[in-house]
Formats: sequence, C-alpha cells, structure tokens
Amino acid sequence: MTLFNGAVLVAGATGRTGAWVVKRLQSHQIDYHLFVRSGAKALELFGPEIIDKLTIGSIEHPEEIRAGLRHTDAVICAIGGNVTDPASPPPSAIDRDGVKRLAKLAKEQGVRHFVLISSLAVTRANHPLNKYGQVLTMKLEGENEVRRLYSEPGFSYTILRPGGLTDGPPLMHSMIFDTGDRIETGAIRRSDVAEAAVISLFTPEAHNLTFELIEGEESPQSSLVQFFST
Ligand SMILES: NC(=O)c1ccc[n+]([C@@H]2O[C@H](COP(=O)([O-])OP(=O)(O)OC[C@H]3O[C@@H](n4cnc5c(N)ncnc54)[C@H](OP(=O)(O)O)[C@@H]3O)[C@@H](O)[C@H]2O)c1
Repeated sequence: MTLFNGAVLVAGATGRTGAWVVKRLQSHQIDYHLFVRSGAKALELFGPEIIDKLTIGSIEHPEEIRAGLRHTDAVICAIGGNVTDPASPPPSAIDRDGVKRLAKLAKEQGVRHFVLISSLAVTRANHPLNKYGQVLTMKLEGENEVRRLYSEPGFSYTILRPGGLTDGPPLMHSMIFDTGDRIETGAIRRSDVAEAAVISLFTPEAHNLTFELIEGEESPQSSLVQFFST
C-alpha cells in the first residue's frame, strides 16, 4: 500500500542524491516522473522501463520544466549546480534562479507539496563554501522562494538542509533533525536524505518546516519518520 497517492517529479534524478530519491520512491511504491538533463544517463541508471517517465530538460528553461510538471502532484528537487567547474552555469543560475523557476511553475501547474534538498550552513555567509559563487547564499534565496510560495493555504513544503553528503545504503544510522539552524557541521548519507525527502510527502510533522539533518550513531532503523518530531 502506498502512503502517498499521486505522482512525484524528481528534479535532478540522475544526481547522486536524486538517484536515491528514485530508489526510495520505488521502495515506497510511490509513482514518479524524472526531470533530467540526460536521457542516456537516466536509462543507464534506472533501466529501459523508465522511458515513459522521462522529461529531458534544464532547470534554466521554463518550457522544459512545464513539460516535466504535467500530471505531477509533488516535486522533490535534488538539483545542485557544479560549483567547481567554471564552464557550468553559476549557482545564481541553478541553485537560486533555477529553483525559484521550478517552484513557481510547479505551483502554477497545481503542485501542492514541494521538497527542496538544500544544504547545512546556507545562513552562514562567511562559510568557506560560499567563495564558490556564493553558493550557500544562492541556495538560501532559492529556499526563501519555496517557503514564500508554499506557505500559502492549500500548499506545503519541506526544506532539508543536509550536512556533508556521503554514500552508502539508507537506514543504518540514527538521525539528528533540527529546525533551529543550530547545527554547524556533520555528515549524512545521500540515501538517508533521499528517504527523508520521500517520507516528508506523507508525514505531516515534516510539513512547512526547514530541517537541518545529520546522522548520529550507527544503528539500524526501520523508519526515519520519528526524527521529524524529535
Ligand atoms: N556535496 C555535499 O556534501 C553537499 C552537502 C549538502 C548539500 N548538498 C546539496 O545537495 C544536493 C544534492 O547533492 P548531490 O551530491 O547529490 O549532487 P549531484 O550528484 O552533483 O547532483 C546534482 C544534480 O543536479 C542536476 N543539475 C545540475 N544542473 C542542472 C540543470 N541546469 N538542470 C537540471 N538538472 C541539473 C545534475 O544533472 P546531471 O546528472 O545531468 O549532472 C545532477 O543530477 C545539491 O543541491 C547539493 O548542492 C551537497
């Protein structure tokens, strides 16, 4: 039985966190659609069975985003610009303007819940990461727009600010989820961030809040739902 009735657009589905979002949606039997820059990469990652679920495009282009949003009830955005490659668009174009564009168009097309994977430390302007195109500040501006648009009645959002991302399977650690912008450092697996994003769809305690997320001690978990209320 699925706990979320509707289809979820995964923006950035071929990224390292986005691919885990797809796997966790599959595991929770939630319907999904993929918004990706490369169809070949998506087919390689997920197999030919996802061909009907693909929209190819960039978060820079409204028409491509609109095509991806058809028949979508919720969005999970796992997009992040490549800040170390000078040939890539800057964080102002992806992490700020791209996220704002996606959030606005999604709301216009009837999306009710928007989940944004952002980053720990977005409020710390002097953080060393910010020397890369003000990436943290750009992410904060993207967040602000999601909060503004989806705080209105009838809509909801969840913003996740993970610590340093690592790889490995999900549900192997206890979690520390905070809403007070107090956590300065820590790490978390991409797979657990993906799981938190997916379960936020059907967890009321996760709605209309911004969470900092890091992992605690190693300890197998059957669910991460409880951490949204602790
Ligand atoms: N690295 C960390 O330690 C860390 C810590 C906290 C938060 N974060 C944030 O967490 C999120 C996920 O991180 P990650 O490591 O999973 O990132 P990732 O593997 O680099 O994936 C980023 C995704 O964004 C997509 N993308 C980039 N530009 C795009 C555009 N113009 N249009 C559409 N899609 C675009 C990429 O597409 P392609 O697959 O085609 O490249 C990729 O799928 C990012 O926002 C990141 O900034 C990272």
